[in-house]
Amino acid sequence: MTYEHVRLTEEDGVATVTLDRPEKRNAIVPELAAELDDALARVEDRVRVVVVEGEGEAFCAGMDLEKRFHEPRKEGPRAFYEAGRKTGRMFTTLYEYRRPTVAKVDGWTFGAGYCLQAVCDFAVATDEATLGLSEINFGIIPGGGAMWAAVNTMNRRDALYYTSTGEPFSGAEADQMGAVTMSVSEDEYESAVEELVDSLVEKNPVALQFNTAVLERVRYMDFDRALDYERGKSEEMKYYQEDEWVDEGIGQFKDRRYRPGLESYEERSGE
Ligand code: COA
Repeated sequence: MTYEHVRLTEEDGVATVTLDRPEKRNAIVPELAAELDDALARVEDRVRVVVVEGEGEAFCAGMDLEKRFHEPRKEGPRAFYEAGRKTGRMFTTLYEYRRPTVAKVDGWTFGAGYCLQAVCDFAVATDEATLGLSEINFGIIPGGGAMWAAVNTMNRRDALYYTSTGEPFSGAEADQMGAVTMSVSEDEYESAVEELVDSLVEKNPVALQFNTAVLERVRYMDFDRALDYERGKSEEMKYYQEDEWVDEGIGQFKDRRYRPGLESYEERSGE
């Protein structure tokens, strides 16, 4: 697939997928969604971390209100359904992704754009970024994952307030609510993203993959079930990483080569 609306670059095990429709504030059309999905699938097995960013003033201004909503709605239910199906897949791909994903929220971020950052594992915002669940402003409720995004990144009061009023909020406010991983000033932005990405790159990739998948599931379990599940998944993880954790992770500690409370062990030959 050739890309018209996204760019894909790779460097030192980190892939960056850039939404590249700045003239429309990176609003999502079905073609962009399909390209993003394709780019993610293409690099999933060969990189350590994926960064999702937007070109220009926006991270992502949400669904394209004309091409995703107005035009297909006028064409009828089937066209509307198809447009939704095509644009929705990338959210699931990101949510289930086997590599850590980092969203760079450094501009306009609304509706489906809010959902896009929420399905990434990490979101780093600039203090000045503007986010919002603006659906109510054009007369509907957040859908296609955006309501899920609200309740999974905000407490009940904040989710109700921002979905009911459509009021925008800054990256700094999102940080205060816990709706993004962190927010920093423009000056500190690139180094903050780099620091996070670097710290993920040096972790055991199998452990990271299981960490996210297990965390998402135990959130919905009672303690007894979680204990059993964590025990089973931990053993599965150790099998897939061929006991690197005990040979190197614990082995290097035994040799007093590092302090695990403060840093990572050195990975076994260039995995
Ligand atoms: N869908 C379709 N087109 C969009 C868009 C969207 N979600 N967001 C921006 N655009 C288009 C504008 O229509 C405009 O197109 P034009 O140049 O052909 O007129 C272009 O992008 C630039 O937008 P503009 O409004 O002029 O830029 P701005 O920087 O002043 O404002 C926003 C940016 C994001 C605040 C504003 O465009 C906006 O409110 N967009 C809708 C956001 C939203 O509610 N998204 C939720 C969707 S689920």
